[in-house]
Amino acid sequence: ANHPKLNPTVRVTITGAAGNIGYALLFRIASGAVFGPNTPVQLQLLERDNEQSKASLNGVCMELFDSAFPLLTRVITTTDPLEAFEKTQAAFLVGSMPRGPGMARSDLLLANGPIFQSQGEALDQTADRNVKVLVVGNPCNTNAYIAMHNAPSLSPKCFSAMMRLDHNRAVAQLAQKTGKPVCSISGLKVWGNHSNSMYPDISQCTIAGVKATELVDEAWYNDYFLPTVSKRGSAIIKARGKSSAASAASAAIDHMRDWWNGSNGRIVTMAVPSDGSYGVPEGLVCGFPCICTGGGEYEIVKDLPITASGRARLDATIAELVKEHDTVAQLCE
Ligand code: NAD
Ligand code: LMR
Repeated sequence: ANHPKLNPTVRVTITGAAGNIGYALLFRIASGAVFGPNTPVQLQLLERDNEQSKASLNGVCMELFDSAFPLLTRVITTTDPLEAFEKTQAAFLVGSMPRGPGMARSDLLLANGPIFQSQGEALDQTADRNVKVLVVGNPCNTNAYIAMHNAPSLSPKCFSAMMRLDHNRAVAQLAQKTGKPVCSISGLKVWGNHSNSMYPDISQCTIAGVKATELVDEAWYNDYFLPTVSKRGSAIIKARGKSSAASAASAAIDHMRDWWNGSNGRIVTMAVPSDGSYGVPEGLVCGFPCICTGGGEYEIVKDLPITASGRARLDATIAELVKEHDTVAQLCE
């Protein structure tokens, strides 16, 4: 038989591994969906130190075992962040409290902010120096900002937050509206905060080579598309009684896969620390159009034109991020 040569094993950390998202995420990572069919993975799973979380994680591990994934070399479970992040190369920071009906994501800051302070410190001490950190736990932009500030020995470029779900939601709405396949849509991006103020931007988006703005009218964009995409998280919570999990895991996989392998020249949305582009204050963890250039690198796409109404939306979401980041200054000292 022709066996392909295997790459070195990648160490992957997932926090909150026994939760909703964890259950949808672990099995796809173990199957090769992020690092490819020739890259073995070692999973380092972090959970809270209580009997229920530990028992639940144990059950998830039994199921991982029973799946007999050829690429899964080892599973470590722990309640110690230092151990969970030991030499980790890709860290999915999921573990935190989700919001319930009627809450804003920023209402979670008090409960979740300190988690990202201590996990930032732990990453600083034990993670691989090129680790790719994806913060999923909400409010994800500000939690990523907290983690980054507590890991001064790691490059800020190691840290990102997840706005790929917003990006995917926007793509799906456009595909449905125009009757074109998802894969024909390019150039879309979602600016700003993963909150109601996000700005999904279709001004340079094309659908099967045609400008999106020629295929959908402004009223649909303003009255349907924008509110549907930006409030989709709440709609899922209302419908399921729990926040999105499978679509969130899928977006996390898309984000990390593209970051790790490259996005093949395509624009993808990542929330990353600003380098000052587009007037976004430096260091703010903001949704930007990015291209992942392969080898684990990404670049913010520069100098794209922004419409006047787009500029107003971008300024509003930036102002919200500045305010959120300011409220956690104490956790960042
Ligand atoms: P969940 O409650 O089902 O699972 C969270 C898990 O994290 C639990 O098992 C819990 O024990 C664990 N946990 C809590 N604190 C921890 C800590 N300090 N260390 C390790 N583990 C810890 O929640 P979920 O549905 O999986 O959602 C997780 C987070 O992801 C929430 O904050 C949610 O709002 C967020 N989320 C973000 C996006 C996004 O697009 N950015 C999408 C969906 C959900
Ligand atoms: C989402 O967008 O689905 C998540 O951020 C969960 C939430 O609270 O909306």
